[in-house]
Amino acid sequence: MIEKLIRFGVSLPEGLLKKFDRLIKEKNYTSRSKAIADLIREELIKKQWQQDKEIAGAVVLVYNHHKRELVDKLIDIQHNFQKIIISNQHIHIDKDNCLEIIAIKGRSQQAQKLNDILKATKGIKHATLSMSSTGKGIE
Ligand code: NI
Repeated sequence: MIEKLIRFGVSLPEGLLKKFDRLIKEKNYTSRSKAIADLIREELIKKQWQQDKEIAGAVVLVYNHHKRELVDKLIDIQHNFQKIIISNQHIHIDKDNCLEIIAIKGRSQQAQKLNDILKATKGIKHATLSMSSTGKGIE
C-alpha cells in the first residue's frame, strides 16, 4: 500500500541546515525528505527497543579461534539464548580469525543482553548488534 505523503514546513537555523545538507550528501541521500523520514523512523525504532518490543536482527562477532576455551564459551552462551537465536553462520576469514553472524528474533532487551555478554567475553575482538523493527508500528 502506498501511503499518502503530507508536505509540511520546517524552520531550522541556517547553520544547522547546512550541516544537515552536508551530512545527507555524504550519506548519498538525494532528498531531504527521505533523510528526515529515516531519522524519524530511527527514533521510533529506538523507542521500540526501550519498550522491549519484538525485533529481528543480528549479532556480528570477530574472534581468534585459537584463544583457549573461547569457542566452547561461545557455544554455551548461545545455548543459553536459544529462544531468540534463529540461525548462526560461521565464516573462517583467515588462518586465525572467525566471523560469526548470529541471527536473532525476539525481545530487544534479550538481544541487547546477548550482545553485552558476547562483547564482554575474553577473546572477542569485535561484537556489534544490529536491530530492526519487525514492522509493527513503523511505516
Ligand atoms: Ni572459524
